[in-house]
Amino acid sequence: MNNPQINQVDRYAVIGNPIAHSKSPFIHEAFAKQTNQQISYERVLAPLDGFDATVQNLITQGYKGANVTVPFKLEAFAMCDNLSERAHAAGAVNTLIFENNKISGDNTDGAGLVNDIKHNLAHALQGARILLLGAGGAAQGVLLPLISAQAASIVIANRSLEKAHFMAQKFAIQNSICNITVSTFENLQNQFDVIINATSIGLSDSVLPIPNTIFAKNCLAYDMMYGRETPFMQQAKANGAQVADGLGMLVEQAAEAFYLWRGVRPQTAPVINMLRAL
Ligand code: ATR
Repeated sequence: MNNPQINQVDRYAVIGNPIAHSKSPFIHEAFAKQTNQQISYERVLAPLDGFDATVQNLITQGYKGANVTVPFKLEAFAMCDNLSERAHAAGAVNTLIFENNKISGDNTDGAGLVNDIKHNLAHALQGARILLLGAGGAAQGVLLPLISAQAASIVIANRSLEKAHFMAQKFAIQNSICNITVSTFENLQNQFDVIINATSIGLSDSVLPIPNTIFAKNCLAYDMMYGRETPFMQQAKANGAQVADGLGMLVEQAAEAFYLWRGVRPQTAPVINMLRAL
């Protein structure tokens, strides 16, 4: 017999490996409380070779959707029956919707970054000269939303120039307004209004070889990592930039996923403030 208690709430989860550190349950529980939505949201540890089976198991149990984090975003992309345009552009999926025996995939990371920059940090992207540091999964995930935000130009700088070229070419096809070029770190010359660090270098204490001269007056330097001040943030601060870490993006990408699932937009500022206070 079905347990009526369990059927009262719609179930969601975040799947990753490792997953114990994930703040997503805290964020989604705060959104649910704020918007009076009856949901449950939990962490699910998938074995490294068992992502598909884990998703199928959640579907069998009646879950309505899931977030996907490291290292499964590419596998999530591969297993979807339907993909949103932004998931397609990102080549990765961080939000799954289970409906009518089909799996739909979206990617809310880029929208999360754009919303954090525009609304929480009050920094304009329209007409901005943007520098995107990195050409891996994280960088690719945010490029289309940055183009859609009507940036004037985007320079992609990466250690491997070939990867930067590949990414620029892929996106040049879908875009005629924003001028996309590539550079090595050392050869960066102009100043930028918004500089986004999407490399994983912040995991170590290494420093990106970017010149001090690239930080325009009042520019925003954004590190997609959160939890500590990275060497990139320290360098930006020393050169007069407004500095931000990726905590706001984390909450904003979750809000976008919550909206996809529930059709309600939660307020993000109180949740960002709560996380900062922890
Ligand atoms: P993610 O999903 O976090 O983007 P990824 O796809 O492995 O992970 O990409 C990592 C990014 O960080 C890449 O842009 C990588 O540069 P390369 O493409 O040249 O490998 C960049 N990166 C990682 N460690 C770095 C380092 N020590 N110096 C400079 N760039 C680094």
